[in-house]
Amino acid sequence: MVETDENPFEAEDPIFELKQPLKKDTFDPDTIFHRDDEIGLYINALQDVVVGHDPNNVFVYGPTGVGKTAVTKWVRDKLLEKAAEEAVPLEVIGPINCRNYKSAYRLVNGLVNEFREPEDKLPKSGYSTDTVFDFLYQEIEAVGGNVLIILDEIDNIPPDARNDFLYELPRAEASENTPIEEAKIGLIGISNDLKFVDALEPKVKSTLGEREIKFGPYDANELRDILGYYADIAFKDDVLTDDVVPLAAAFSAQERGDVRQGLKILEKAGEYARMEGSGRVTEEHTRRATETIETDEILNYFSQDLSSQQSLTYLATTLAIIEPDHDARTKRIYTLYSSLAESIGRRVKSERKVYEFLDQLSMQGLVRSSEQNLGRKGGRRYIYNVTDDPADIINAAQKSDYSDALPSNVWEILQHHKEGEATSYEAPHGSDETQQNLWRFT
Ligand SMILES: Nc1ncnc2c1ncn2[C@@H]1O[C@H](COP(=O)(O)OP(=O)(O)OP(=O)(O)O)[C@@H](O)[C@H]1O
Ligand SMILES: [Mg+2]
Repeated sequence: MVETDENPFEAEDPIFELKQPLKKDTFDPDTIFHRDDEIGLYINALQDVVVGHDPNNVFVYGPTGVGKTAVTKWVRDKLLEKAAEEAVPLEVIGPINCRNYKSAYRLVNGLVNEFREPEDKLPKSGYSTDTVFDFLYQEIEAVGGNVLIILDEIDNIPPDARNDFLYELPRAEASENTPIEEAKIGLIGISNDLKFVDALEPKVKSTLGEREIKFGPYDANELRDILGYYADIAFKDDVLTDDVVPLAAAFSAQERGDVRQGLKILEKAGEYARMEGSGRVTEEHTRRATETIETDEILNYFSQDLSSQQSLTYLATTLAIIEPDHDARTKRIYTLYSSLAESIGRRVKSERKVYEFLDQLSMQGLVRSSEQNLGRKGGRRYIYNVTDDPADIINAAQKSDYSDALPSNVWEILQHHKEGEATSYEAPHGSDETQQNLWRFT
């Protein structure tokens, strides 16, 4: 029982010194670990700028959380420092995150405003796209030297901006339609979507790909150094036991080699310790954090990234996989999808629609399909699988808006699935007779 005159909040945090470096990419580390080769390539690509030659276009790519943005900012700062020392005219804009701009107009507008003083900023609308492009060219020309534009998450560039930005802009100085004569433009594009590059037109690809720098995943030793650096800043002295950082590093290395995930584990482990009133973060807290981190990631899919129809399709696929005696074929997934949707009163979409959802899920990397040949009978069919552990998906679903749709014996089924025994689904808890019927399959 809590006394009413007691306040359960604590005035001091016994565990964390500074949480922000664990949570937000806005914290810029002053040391970059294990990216010497990539930094070397970057410096080499941008060296020309410092001595006054034309800039190269650079394309930086690799999976999520491996330092693409962090390294880019670090190199940018060093470049600006050197250019200032040498009195070389240079302006660097960005990294601008393309995700934040929904149209070409917005993006150009945003870029113009990067050049301008607060009192001269452009309004959000009121001009034509051509006019704002002219403003941009004027700003660029006014620099009178090299201008580097860094576009981050370039796979999210508004479709109507692709050609203008990735092809026309880097060539503006050669074009007679722009006022640009003195200025030289270099474009740096960053992406974690490799399919994005493949899908570009060859002419755009060759502009952007003048210099390519690939960032691979980190291994456990590298992650140990990086996470150790953040742990020193984020935690109070002596609260971390020796196993915490190596364990978080090993886990993230096994998964994707992604720093962000490692940081999340540290944060979560610290929170478990704090919640228990334990003065130290232990191996056990860290293990528990790694166990929930996967569920949390999937829960994010359910609550943010996927539409409700995609979520139900994802869930149906998972149920089809753990269900004994049935293959996870499209037909079966559709049947289960329909039951799930109806159980919580959602619209049941057509079979064709659900196939589309499956395609979208597979583009997001959540499901995978493989083709099965039917042998003598002829024909082929698709069998689906999920890329995460079904137990994690069901755990996440139970915490999501779709928990009421889950069959009541889903854990038993999963258990039987693991043990290879057969059982059938039962209707969700509290179902009436109509709903019960939804879960009786022939
Ligand atoms: N080598 C490193 N040294 C220090 N900190 C790093 C290093 N690599 C990554 N980080 C940190 O890890 C976090 C994620 O890195 P970053 O934002 O650069 O990833 P990214 O490759 O741009 O990922 P995404 O494709 O998702 O944007 C940031 O907080 C960053 O500062
Ligand atoms: Mg990034």
